[in-house]
Amino acid sequence: MDPAEIPENRLYNDLAYLWQVVSPPEEYAEEANCWRQVLWEFLGPGRHHVLELGVGGGHNLSHLTPDFNGTAVDISQPMLQQSMALNPGVDHIVGDMRCVRLGRTFDAVLVHDAISCMTTARDLSAVFTTAAMHLDSGGPLLLAPDDFADQITLPRIECHTHSRGEIELTYVEHAYDPDPTDTKIDVVFTFFIREEGRLRLEHDRQPRGLFSRSTWRHLIHAAGFDYSERSFNLPTAGITYTLLVGTLM
Ligand SMILES: C[S@@+](CC[C@H](N)C(=O)[O-])C[C@H]1O[C@@H](n2cnc3c(N)ncnc32)[C@H](O)[C@@H]1O
Repeated sequence: MDPAEIPENRLYNDLAYLWQVVSPPEEYAEEANCWRQVLWEFLGPGRHHVLELGVGGGHNLSHLTPDFNGTAVDISQPMLQQSMALNPGVDHIVGDMRCVRLGRTFDAVLVHDAISCMTTARDLSAVFTTAAMHLDSGGPLLLAPDDFADQITLPRIECHTHSRGEIELTYVEHAYDPDPTDTKIDVVFTFFIREEGRLRLEHDRQPRGLFSRSTWRHLIHAAGFDYSERSFNLPTAGITYTLLVGTLM
């Protein structure tokens, strides 16, 4: 099978019901602590109102809603439904983070790993413009790209098994670069899904953007933000976790 023929982003559409199995909400507690810390560093303590673009299943947000009010945007209705079930007090809106305009501002704008769905510099710049239009003055824009071009080795293959409720899932993900001259890589998934004792296979392909740290810095700066980074050691995950922070100049 030619991987280019695999439909894109099924995990965020017809397979969205698997998101909690693929990436359990409990596993976001450690990184959400970093988001909380950076938000309070910039905003001071208090129950601030944050806008998350590309909220997905709302797993990261679910650890922030005890301390913050939330508004959530995603391009996928099935993913918003997942987040609505987990974050009942949050306003959920269907929209494209590159062009959505809500007509109001927030204390902070968050774009978690969904920022990696932007595959071109033009798309990233459009998201930064959206953020700027929804931020109160001084409010931070927080971003968590999955990977940096200067810190990734491709191809990369991972395999995970998770169970949740009646679903047992093993998935293999293979990240590779079909065209090293552009800023897009593809992550191809094979899901082995066992439900009600029956096993079936599904495939998905997720285009992701891959940019160097200097490109992030340049594009965020060009959109009118001061740029800084916060790095954290996550002992449970065993990784160094980096948040990019923009503050409007
Ligand atoms: C990896 S998921 C985010 C998961 C999320 N961090 C969580 O905690 O559950 C990426 C999300 O980005 C969304 N997305 C991709 N492109 C988008 C766009 N242009 N505008 C808004 N959302 C987008 C997808 O629909 C998907 O729900």
